[in-house]
This record gives sequence, structure tokens and C-alpha cells, in this order.
Amino acid sequence: MTEHWTPASWRAKPAKHMPSDYPDPAALSQVEQTLRRMPPLVFAGEARRLKALLGDVAAGKAFLLQGGDCAESFKEFHADNIRDTFRLILQMAVVLTFAGGKPVVKVGRMAGQFGKPRSSEVEVQANVALPSYRGDNINGMEFTPEARTPDPQRLIQAYGQSAATLNLLRAFAGGGYADLHNIHRWTLGFVADSPQGARYREVAEKISETLMFMEAIGVTPESQPALHQVEFFTSHEGLLLNFEEAMTRVDSTSGDWYDTSAHLLWIGERTRDLAGAHVEYFKGIKNPIGLKCGPTLEADELSRLIDVLNPKNEAGRLTLYGRFGYDKIEDRLPRLLKATQASGRNVVWAIDPMHGNTLTAANGYKTRPFDRILSEVKSFVEVCKAEGVHPGGVHLEMTGQNVTECLGGARAVAEGDLADRYHTHCDPRLNGEQALDLAFLVAEKLKDERSGAARRATAV
Ligand code: PEP
Ligand code: CO
Repeated sequence: MTEHWTPASWRAKPAKHMPSDYPDPAALSQVEQTLRRMPPLVFAGEARRLKALLGDVAAGKAFLLQGGDCAESFKEFHADNIRDTFRLILQMAVVLTFAGGKPVVKVGRMAGQFGKPRSSEVEVQANVALPSYRGDNINGMEFTPEARTPDPQRLIQAYGQSAATLNLLRAFAGGGYADLHNIHRWTLGFVADSPQGARYREVAEKISETLMFMEAIGVTPESQPALHQVEFFTSHEGLLLNFEEAMTRVDSTSGDWYDTSAHLLWIGERTRDLAGAHVEYFKGIKNPIGLKCGPTLEADELSRLIDVLNPKNEAGRLTLYGRFGYDKIEDRLPRLLKATQASGRNVVWAIDPMHGNTLTAANGYKTRPFDRILSEVKSFVEVCKAEGVHPGGVHLEMTGQNVTECLGGARAVAEGDLADRYHTHCDPRLNGEQALDLAFLVAEKLKDERSGAARRATAV
């Protein structure tokens, strides 16, 4: 960290993908002042706990499961949606823990994932050009000049929605819903009668039997609180630095600065400039942070970014998310892994198999083929194995809702089906069935990794 870092020092650097067209800058400053007085959403001690857990992932002892909407929205804000994504994450974590034999660190792309970087500043429809939609915390999705004008009050609404979402997540995580004894009840209605549902029930059955055995020998939720609750963390892309700055507070325990809007924040693919505002802001906060690594990132640039973002080489501080595309990962990932391995960097390597695999279907829908998503995940595990790196986690855009946004999967969503239930406010998400399917695939790959490691250990 430079001597001159402050939560506002990013303001002297070029900030990409942030709106510069608020009609009333004074109203925006007023909102930022209001946000400064709002209670923190998370506590620094929780962020430190997540960092420690991610340190275990970096050491190959745990696995990261991170997922949720591409963009949360005001319209889709509902307790059922929050519950359904939460229980999908629990189900996937059960599958991954059971097969991979490692604890799963659970992080939602939830309770603050609103702002979106856009490839174009403007959107043109029928010869009319309007500012692009940037996320519900900035402007509205409707294609009208009023909706597309940034409104600072939306930041307050996003804060309120994040607080309410987090409140429910905390209740679910600690209040009994996540008790392992409820494992059969987590199944989402529409997944229940699918092949993934049946496979999940088999796993759940085995776990229930184990729980009965454990109870018989005196291991109960009363003696082992871990059976009764889960640790669940929140994350979002730290894109809107004025919002993040307002949520940045000094932790009284350590005297360090924490961004209290989420436990983990990441830098997106389009804002990872070494000389830019986002890297400047991120280097001074002590939260665990992430960095998206796309196909244009070279190994020397990655090394420089790591020098700046994790100068003390602390395990758990930095998670790198590869997001190359199924056809590029085998070419691009090995050189980045070699760079972090050769210099002994304590980082988590995870895969975001969503953002390199987006395409526009013939009928105009932005979509992602499920087989390409699976293929990028498989390649990730294989390339990691070949380079001696722990394939540490997955970062997914997914929802517990029965949407038709990604093509394929067990029910073979076809191009013509996309219109049926296409609800996303930005990128296409895996539905519950597709997400569970992916968890089974990753679990199998991790199991191979485990038996491979056991074989290697015996051979020594
Ligand atoms: C995202 O995670 O929603 C995103 C925009 O990803 P990326 O920065 O990797 O494109
Ligand atoms: Co996205």
C-alpha cells in the first residue's frame, strides 16, 4: 500500500465503467454522505474469517463455491428467490463436500451484486441511442430516456435491498434452515423429478444414515454446532467505487480499512488496469479480494498485479478467477499458472466458466451453451492438475429459479425455449438443474484428484 492511500485516493486515477452522467452531482454527493452514515453490512472479523478459509483453499485443503445472479435487481427482489439460490448453494456444497472430501467455502454473489460493466456506453434500438443499462443501482432497464438517466437514490435502495437480503441469509445460515438434518428439504421443486434430483437424493440418503450413526454415538447438533448452521459469505464486483468508498470503514480491532459492503469483492476483467482507479482502491482494503483473469492477460502483467494487490503474499487475500472460454483456456491458463507457481504466490485459482462462453443466439438472446461451461470447468481441473496447482473453486452465475437462459443441460434447453423463462437482468444464468449437474461433474473431477493424490502419496 502506498503512503497516500485513502478510501478516496482512487478519485485521482482513471475510473472505467462508472457513470459520469449523473445530472445532479450535488445530489450524488448527498447520497454518498448518507451512505457514509449507514451501518456496515458486514463486520471486519467476518471478512478475516473468510480470508482464513480462503487460505485453506490456497493450501489445497478446501474448495470455493461462489455463485448467484449476474445482476441482482429491484424487480426480482423476493424472499423466495433468495431462499432458492441459498439452498441451491447448500445442495451443491453437499455434493462437492461428499465427493471431494474437502470443506466447501460458500460465497454468494448476493446482497450487493448490482453494478455492471457494459461493453458499450450506449444502446441503439430502432435508430434511437440511449445510455446503456448499468445495473439497478445506477439506472433502469426500460428503454426510455428517464429510466436510463442515472439516479443516485438507487444507491440507497440498493443498500437497503442488500441489508434485507443479508439479514435473511444470516437467518437461513444460522437459524436452523441449513441444519444438515434438513438435507432432503433443500431440493428445489422443479429439480426433484430430474436425474440430478435423484442423484442428489442418493447423496442425501447416505448423509442422513451417517447422521443417524453419529447421533447414536453422541455427535448431535447440540454438541457440534457445525451440523446446525453454515458459514455463508457475500460478494460482488467492486465496480462503483463511490459506493464502496462510502462503505469503507476503519476496523476498531485492527485499525485497518475494510470495505463493509461485502465480505469479498473482486476486480472485473474490464477494470483491472494497474494504473486505474479500481486497482488503487482495492490495494488499500483488507478484505479478501478477487481478480478476473481473461484471455488477454499476460503472465508478467498478472505478476505485477499480484505484487500490488497482495504484496505480503498472504494466503487467502487474493483469488484469481480464470474466465477464458472453453476454446481458449488450454492455451491461456498454463502460462498464468506457471507464473504464480514459479514465484511461490499464495493465491487461490478458481474458474469462472460463464463469462468466456457467452454468445448471441439466432433469435437475439444472449445465452451460454451448458456443454461449453462444463468443458471449461473440465479443462480447468485438468490444466491445474498438469501444473501441480489446486483447482480451488468455481464462480458461477446461477439461480435457484427454473429459468431458460443457458442452452442445453439434462432438459436440453433449445434456442426456441430461451424466450420461455428468460428473466436475467444481465447475463444468462444456470438454472437449478444445470447448476446441480455441474456440481456433480466437479465432484467427480475432484474425486479423481483425490484418488490421484492418494496414489501419488502411496508411491512415495
Ligand atoms: C461478472 O462477473 O459479472 C463480470 C462482468 O465478469 P468479467 O469481469 O469477468 O467480465
Ligand atoms: Co455476468
